[in-house]
Amino acid sequence: MRVLIAGCGYVGTALCELLVRDGRHVWALRRGGVVLPKGAESVQGDVTKPDTLTMLPASLDAVVYAVSAGGYEEARYRAAYIDGPRNILDALRANSPRLKRFVFVSSTGVYAQSGGEWVDEDSPAEQSHFSGATLLEGERIVASSPFPATVVRLGGIYGPGRTRLIESVKNGSATLPSTPTYLNLIHRDDCAGIIRHILSTANASNLYLGVDNEPSDRRVILKWIAKQIGAASPPVEEGATSARGQRGNKRCRNARIREAGYEFRYPTFREGLAQELDA
Ligand SMILES: NC(=O)c1ccc[n+]([C@@H]2O[C@H](COP(=O)([O-])OP(=O)(O)OC[C@H]3O[C@@H](n4cnc5c(N)ncnc54)[C@H](OP(=O)(O)O)[C@@H]3O)[C@@H](O)[C@H]2O)c1
Repeated sequence: MRVLIAGCGYVGTALCELLVRDGRHVWALRRGGVVLPKGAESVQGDVTKPDTLTMLPASLDAVVYAVSAGGYEEARYRAAYIDGPRNILDALRANSPRLKRFVFVSSTGVYAQSGGEWVDEDSPAEQSHFSGATLLEGERIVASSPFPATVVRLGGIYGPGRTRLIESVKNGSATLPSTPTYLNLIHRDDCAGIIRHILSTANASNLYLGVDNEPSDRRVILKWIAKQIGAASPPVEEGATSARGQRGNKRCRNARIREAGYEFRYPTFREGLAQELDA
């Protein structure tokens, strides 16, 4: 299998390692230089500049699009999630007409639900804020391409080097929201594992949520971390939860990817964060 990972960063590099180990022929596209797992090939290019995509490998079997916006601004989001997929798909039409799977890495931020309700792949995704709205537009572009496409909506990614929750308890900046505020987390290795599973599933669905088994109240997670490291419980937040915090307040169900046969390495924040605390 010939696979291109477009946007080979935190998740992409972990995926690259798994695919190389599986014996896949992997190319990793990004703008800068990168240290890749032995066996993978580096391609330097910018998904927002079509003239830099003419050297993409041909006759690919699968593409994973995992470019990030690199900043919380609308122009960056449009470039990463609308222009980028459009340009890559144009290049693939010319050089890989028999592509078997295009995986677009999206986010649970596409959901507008904010009252702590449960959501899954069948729930309406109607986020109008620019961050979710541009991702939704990217999802539509990919779904209307001529290639079999799968969108993976990831929750909050943590793992080696991304331990903000732990750091916030350690440095005393963590506060407990005054009302339940749910986090939908996923360890980096499960992000990579899910995408690898999709690539090896013949009849993959067009949409999966990529979150662990247990959406959890931020207060429960922070108190658990405090207990693990022997710190005092963080203080309760004063005032109302910020608009941005409320925007993410829903509980994402991962039943579809589990029913597709994926087994989580870190089923809840407890196993995943314990691993990072030990590291
Ligand atoms: N972080 C989260 O909690 C979270 C939650 C939900 C969904 N997601 C999504 O998950 C995906 C992967 O996230 P991540 O954390 O792995 O991101 P990341 O570490 O920032 O990696 C993104 C990669 O994209 C490359 N890239 C950025 N702009 C590019 C461009 N114009 N052309 C080519 N390559 C480009 C970057 O390398 P260069 O800079 O060298 O080009 C980098 O290798 C993203 O789509 C992100 O939105 C993330």
